Amino acid sequence: MCGIVGIINHQKISIKNDLLKSLKRLEYRGYDSVGYATIEGKVEKSVGEISNFLDEIKDSTTSCAISHTRWATHGGVTKINSHPHWDCNENIFTVHNGIIENYQELKKELIEKGHIFITDTDSEVISHFLEEELKSKNMVDAIKSFISQTQGTYAILVIEKGKNRIYAIKKDSPLVLGIGNDRLYLASDIYAFSDSTNKAIFFEDGEFAIIEPDTYSFYDSAGKALKKEIYEFTWSIPQEESVQNYPHYMIKEIHEQPIATQRLINSLDGEQHDKIKKIAELVKNSKRVVFTAAGSSYYASLLGVYFLNRIGINAHTLIASEFQNFMLVDKDTLFIAISQSGETMDVVTATKWAKERGAKIVSLVNVPHSTIQRMSDISLEIHAGPEICVAATKTFTNQVVSLLYLSWLLGFSVNMKTIPNKIDYVIKENEDLIKKMADELYEKKDIYIIGRGLSYPPSREMALKLKEISYIHAEGMMGGELKHGTIALIEPGTPVIALIPGKDFDMYSNAKEVEARGARVITIANMMDSDFKLDITINDGKFSILAVIIGQLLTYYIARKKKLPIDKPRNLAKSVTVK
Ligand code: AGP
Ligand code: GLU
Repeated sequence: MCGIVGIINHQKISIKNDLLKSLKRLEYRGYDSVGYATIEGKVEKSVGEISNFLDEIKDSTTSCAISHTRWATHGGVTKINSHPHWDCNENIFTVHNGIIENYQELKKELIEKGHIFITDTDSEVISHFLEEELKSKNMVDAIKSFISQTQGTYAILVIEKGKNRIYAIKKDSPLVLGIGNDRLYLASDIYAFSDSTNKAIFFEDGEFAIIEPDTYSFYDSAGKALKKEIYEFTWSIPQEESVQNYPHYMIKEIHEQPIATQRLINSLDGEQHDKIKKIAELVKNSKRVVFTAAGSSYYASLLGVYFLNRIGINAHTLIASEFQNFMLVDKDTLFIAISQSGETMDVVTATKWAKERGAKIVSLVNVPHSTIQRMSDISLEIHAGPEICVAATKTFTNQVVSLLYLSWLLGFSVNMKTIPNKIDYVIKENEDLIKKMADELYEKKDIYIIGRGLSYPPSREMALKLKEISYIHAEGMMGGELKHGTIALIEPGTPVIALIPGKDFDMYSNAKEVEARGARVITIANMMDSDFKLDITINDGKFSILAVIIGQLLTYYIARKKKLPIDKPRNLAKSVTVK
């Protein structure tokens, strides 16, 4: 995953205030370790977050530098494995986002030629490869052979000691050039520089570029010069970027959900109305609708399938990383990708595959100008605003709201207008009770969450939240499946959260079955006896949103009780740009 940033300028820039400030805006992409290199040959690296690194290092200036915040794929989380990496002569410095799949083969060949490797990463091979090629070629030809001889995914920045120039290469990992007033940026996404410029050029796969202080040139993989278009983007909701008076972004983002849903509904009624109507037309006129997504976005898509199936529309969904193995698409398929970041590699790969097969591509993203948005025929923005905590909260909710709105346009019965108030009510009514419940549950090793139909996707989403943020093993499952095996794990005191929408007596019976075996049953229901107040009297789609919000709060307060790193849980990153 990881984030990369390079800055080049005529004047000196500050490492701390310019380079690392931009890099920090990409920290959601990975936070295992951090490092930078300048064209003077200065390199500093450290394990851990950028804020600690900023405390450790002294500021310095340079006119050109590259930096990296890592999410390790190959090689442990150590200082030596942190990027940038260099060649034997400490002349070429590189940062890399992605995976060089054939690195072992290349490394072996380079070692045979006398190169000495000092890290366990796949990425180190890049600097040595270029060093070897540069013995007989110029940099452009060296990059061309790199592109032709490597397999895998990459966004790479390269600098050479003493030269005020950055080389940038891209295949399957995102890379963008930011055109500032007095400097040029290279970064994994526009967020790195969106506070200082709104002009950008996106790299396409197989392209590379040479960037100097006031010129840049782009090439295709064969070295043919390209004319690229400058994109002017608008995206900034700055008040939502700071944690304000909250102790964590997660709780702030949970509390923002009434505002975020209202903003989305306004935009679906207003400036995005024609777009969502067009999507509804496409849904109506396609042979079938197929969603794909990962993680929380997948659970949102499951709800989309539920809503559309209820009104007789043939819809399916499949986890993006398995899409090509278990799904068929053709030109009569409407393919809908759901992705907060718009960058998730599994989703990008499935989307490319569907596109090649002639499917119409629709997407729901939170980050405008993201790769998935740019690949789509129509892309709806979910307007959740920046989500900083690694866990999806308000973006999940807004994905579901978009799907409800789409389904409502097609005949699904739901009162969209009341959603923001209901969310507000559910948070206010239940937060204190949830804190108490967190005190009761925080030492538990396993929690089961059961649902049926409308409440099955929320059970999966709640379990994911509990796992990633509270570090509790949790299983979200179909209530009806319990008796086929998992019920053997229920012991006296095992917590089981039962999600019972409306008068779902089957779901109620499933809760009773585990209670009879001693489980500590907690119910989230709207028409049956329940621990939580949801205040919705009809069994419409809102139940799914409100039940998940209870789960978000429970997760947050358990994690707080356990003193966990809530916004940046271990081993995770917000944008998952590797397969
Ligand atoms: C959510 O809490 C997760 N951390 C994660 O599962 C996420 O939903 C998944 O990686 C998909 O991300 P996307 O929506 O940006 O594609
Ligand atoms: N594969 C590289 C590493 O493990 C880069 C990982 C990334 O993209 O974060 O260092």
